[in-house]
Amino acid sequence: MSLPVSPFSSDGDRHFDGLAEKFAGSLYGGPRGALRLALLDRLLPEMLRLDDQPVLDVGGGLGQLSGWFARRGHAVTLVEPAADMLDHARQALAGQPITFVEASLQALPQRAADPWPLIVCHAVLEWLHDPRAALAILAGHLAPGGQLSLMVFNRDALRMSNVVKGNLEKALDDRLEGTGKRQRLTPISPLTHDQIETWSAENGLTIEAVAGVRVFHDYLRHPPTTEADWTRLVALEQRYCRTEPHWRLGRYLLYTLVRTDTATCSRRS
Ligand SMILES: C[S@@+](CC[C@H](N)C(=O)[O-])C[C@H]1O[C@@H](n2cnc3c(N)ncnc32)[C@H](O)[C@@H]1O
Repeated sequence: MSLPVSPFSSDGDRHFDGLAEKFAGSLYGGPRGALRLALLDRLLPEMLRLDDQPVLDVGGGLGQLSGWFARRGHAVTLVEPAADMLDHARQALAGQPITFVEASLQALPQRAADPWPLIVCHAVLEWLHDPRAALAILAGHLAPGGQLSLMVFNRDALRMSNVVKGNLEKALDDRLEGTGKRQRLTPISPLTHDQIETWSAENGLTIEAVAGVRVFHDYLRHPPTTEADWTRLVALEQRYCRTEPHWRLGRYLLYTLVRTDTATCSRRS
């Protein structure tokens, strides 16, 4: 499939138009995607209060997370700006209680404005030109006491993996972010835990829980080749993903952010 003339939206974000096949194959078709889903399957029920509440999945991509919540009885609204990603999700999730909306996070006020008890936004902020503004928009759509399950690509882990791979000059120059221009899947805005802490506080969000997703896998010199070693690796990832210092170098950082302020709700929505 050919790429659009500019891969960036008018907001400067990297929508995944033309990337559905690549994303499905290179991430979810391989061990990294399988491990991510296995860890989320364990972590989401531990980190979130789940009581069949409606879920808004922002930048839902191919719909893996929407499907996970729908199978557990949640009514899900999946918002995704890339038409071909949304088509894949629609086909994969046919028959499940999911509403599909072709829109960007910035269009939420017009397209999915309700205050939501649970918003999921996984692996999206790092593809945005202004992730700080995006977190404010998400916070503004949370009901008081509502939970945001946020997962972001970890800049510190990106540095570590570049060093491990021998990309020393790149790491020393701190040239870590991708350009977003070709079909590469290196994010344009990898994020740090410090940024999430600061921006959460700015928006009345409290960090209730944090975990690293893939704290070991991406640094392995010898990826597992047997089923038994794969099982051992999954067990290690599960054991240390919420433990200091390991979570800090997870490829992704997974947060439960809770909206604790009520006074500024209407100003932001
Ligand atoms: C790495 S994928 C993650 C998909 C899914 N959340 C997951 O965890 O598998 C990033 C997604 O964010 C979407 N995206 C990019 N810019 C966006 C924006 N401004 N608003 C909402 N989604 C956006 C892309 O089109 C893409 O589907």
